Amino acid sequence: MNKESQTVNIPAAITTDMPRLQGALARFPRDRAMWIDGREDASASEMVERYSPAHGVLVTRTPRGQAADAERAIGAARQAFDHGPWPKMSAGERAGVLLRVADAIDRERDLLAHLDCLESGKPIAQARGEVEATADIWRYAAALARTLHGDSYASLGSERLGVVLREPVGVVAIITPWNFPLLIVSQKLPFALAAGCTCVVKPSEMTSASTLHLARLLSEAGLPKGACNVITGFGPEAGAPLATDPRVDMLTFTGSTQIGRAVMAAASASLKKVAMELGGKNPQIVLADADMEAAVDACAFGAYFNAGECCNAGSRILVEGAIAEEFTARLAKKVQQIRIGDPLDPEINIGAIISAGHLGKIEASIAAATKAGAAIRTGGARVAGDGLFMAPTIVDGVTADMAVATEEIFGPVVSVQTIASPEDAIACANASSYGLSAAVWSRNIDVALHVSRQIRAGTVWINTFMDGTPELPFGGYRQSGIGRELGRNAVADFTEEKTLHMHQGPRTAWWLPRV
Ligand code: NAI
Ligand code: MG
Repeated sequence: MNKESQTVNIPAAITTDMPRLQGALARFPRDRAMWIDGREDASASEMVERYSPAHGVLVTRTPRGQAADAERAIGAARQAFDHGPWPKMSAGERAGVLLRVADAIDRERDLLAHLDCLESGKPIAQARGEVEATADIWRYAAALARTLHGDSYASLGSERLGVVLREPVGVVAIITPWNFPLLIVSQKLPFALAAGCTCVVKPSEMTSASTLHLARLLSEAGLPKGACNVITGFGPEAGAPLATDPRVDMLTFTGSTQIGRAVMAAASASLKKVAMELGGKNPQIVLADADMEAAVDACAFGAYFNAGECCNAGSRILVEGAIAEEFTARLAKKVQQIRIGDPLDPEINIGAIISAGHLGKIEASIAAATKAGAAIRTGGARVAGDGLFMAPTIVDGVTADMAVATEEIFGPVVSVQTIASPEDAIACANASSYGLSAAVWSRNIDVALHVSRQIRAGTVWINTFMDGTPELPFGGYRQSGIGRELGRNAVADFTEEKTLHMHQGPRTAWWLPRV
């Protein structure tokens, strides 16, 4: 390990700007109600208090919903599906509503970005970018709505005609995590609505405010009552009924693999359709002929974007032996330029960690890695201050058997493993229970394509990292999930197929003589 690359620019302590925080807080009310059947629902008797993880200050209070609230929301969605206008409207009319929602998201960009920033600790500039990307997804869903269609079979002989209809699957439950509150719900909700489904959304108890605000925007945009309901609170209380209730036809979940597994098991009792976006331990493979400068930058971005609290985080770097030392030294230098601090500061790159409990788990993962024989190349500790900050960390000298190489940490921690060849990289990348995403860096397009095609993952980036666009499907192989989001099938995923099998002309009797 070289001494120079051990020095870190991480501040000894992070001070947050309290007057700026107070200014931001003055822009919206602390308390929000749930949104059920087209109106605010204030029946919860307790509130969940959310403290900004960067400032340690109370920023929002959202209802601690219980099973009865979830059941009421499911009832409203069921009624809206079975008897309401939404599923029966033309796709063009539904698209009109979705487009008005996108305009409203643009209009309220600043407020939505502040809600996500303050509740999650992510940088405000990044949160604004996420809101922009969200509006774009709503517009994509509106465009797709009008392309949804079934099939016809005139090929079955002159007496038979087959028509395959695509019908909305029904009531869709949506359960989301805290890392991209507005973006993740918007990878599901607009497509479900585009198909004609009605929804019940349960955001994370830590980051519910932007989803509650979105529900209000949907209503203002003309969504009929009951077509989108938002219940808040803890998973086992407000979320669990969404998995078990037989009135829910489909459940789409994003979160940890562990909870996803439990939720899917609960959903199996009523055999509802499920879609799962779960964890990842995504390899960034850097081969010896890579564009080193670009790879260093992208690997830092992949590892530390959103403080690594990202299912797509490129949390394990597999670098070819010949360049391993130079690459790691340059990465460490890059890491020292990362600006970590108050998420309301428009200049910072990394904000706060979501919760004290989660920060503790990140530290424990690092401690376990050093105990197993890995070395901290840079970072490795929390940063003192008002809030929950973690220094961006490189763990070096990692071998395949260590937990740091296989387990999702969900924090600003990247492990560096040396690989001997492209074939070794493939084997190492695939030696994981996950399969969400991966990256390959090489100037040799044949090698890059070969490696990409051998990797078992839902997305492989070549000479880039974490680029996304609504046109391209996203999701995981293996224990990273079931199904895909976005992409041209995103609306079809919220449908059932119905076969109309028609007979033309006199029908041949079965076997009984005519009566
Ligand atoms: P989680 O998986 O515990 O929760 C995700 C959502 O599921 C939340 O809305 C939660 O309230 C809900 N939920 C929890 N238990 C439930 C139950 N029994 N029935 C129905 N819904 C339930 O994720 P959480 O708490 O946000 O983070 C925990 C860990 O999960 C993180 O530390 C991280 O390691 C990982 N994670 C992974 C994500 C990914 O996209 N891969 C996203 C967020 C977290
Ligand atoms: Mg949890």
